[in-house]
Amino acid sequence: MIIETGNGHVGVDDVGTGLPVVLLHGFPHTRALWAQQVASLSMRARCIAPDLRGFGASVVDAPWTMEQYASDVRALLDALEIERAVLAGLSMGGYVAMACLRAFPERVIGLALLDTQAGADDDAARAKRDALITQVRARGVDAVVDAMLPGMLGKTTRSQRPDVVADVESMMREATPEGIVGALQAMRDRPDSTETIRTVQVPTMIIVGDEDVLTPPAKSQALAALLPPGTVCRLDVIVGSGHVSCMERPSAVNYALAEFVELVQSR
Ligand code: MLT
Repeated sequence: MIIETGNGHVGVDDVGTGLPVVLLHGFPHTRALWAQQVASLSMRARCIAPDLRGFGASVVDAPWTMEQYASDVRALLDALEIERAVLAGLSMGGYVAMACLRAFPERVIGLALLDTQAGADDDAARAKRDALITQVRARGVDAVVDAMLPGMLGKTTRSQRPDVVADVESMMREATPEGIVGALQAMRDRPDSTETIRTVQVPTMIIVGDEDVLTPPAKSQALAALLPPGTVCRLDVIVGSGHVSCMERPSAVNYALAEFVELVQSR
């Protein structure tokens, strides 16, 4: 469905009842990233999967910052009359979840961080974002698919799951050049979230594919090490998955999320 939140229109799936779990997709994805989690987890929780600004059926409009994406999540919670929610974010979705924690920690009751990292871009990463922005302006979506698709999926998926490769590629191809450039700017300029993670007060689960080359398992281990004692519930390394773990090994991710939701519900 499409709803108007006051921050613009948002494409969103809102399925199930109970504990609200907001599923934040990565770059350059849409809410379709979470289709298999929504199908499974909605039997025990309320799954809310929005298209982030610039993607899918959501508004394609500046400003392009992590703070704006977080403001969009807050406006969505308000529009859906949800006071507190679990936030689950994959990669860029994890950056957005961390921006939400900075902006409205009192509304976050659990955190699931998939294939993501706490640090900001270094100079080399920022230069790569700028080069990709130039290419996307010249060549459109092809530039980002060519640059990112091979690294986005694990070697097991690339060799054994052509259906998943095709699904991820078609999801990437839905993006508009304007949305892609905006997200690249937002990621390039995002602040370091190290201190944000150090002050987390809620149960947190971390998931990473063992074949993730964009945010490798070492980044997740570093993320887990930043969390205050008692907040890390688990760090699951998903065997045979690359960066898009929720599409590459959906059952493993569904299982981990279901257990995590149960734990948050029991607190
Ligand atoms: C993503 O999957 O969201 C991106 O790879 C994140 C990034 O480029 O930093």
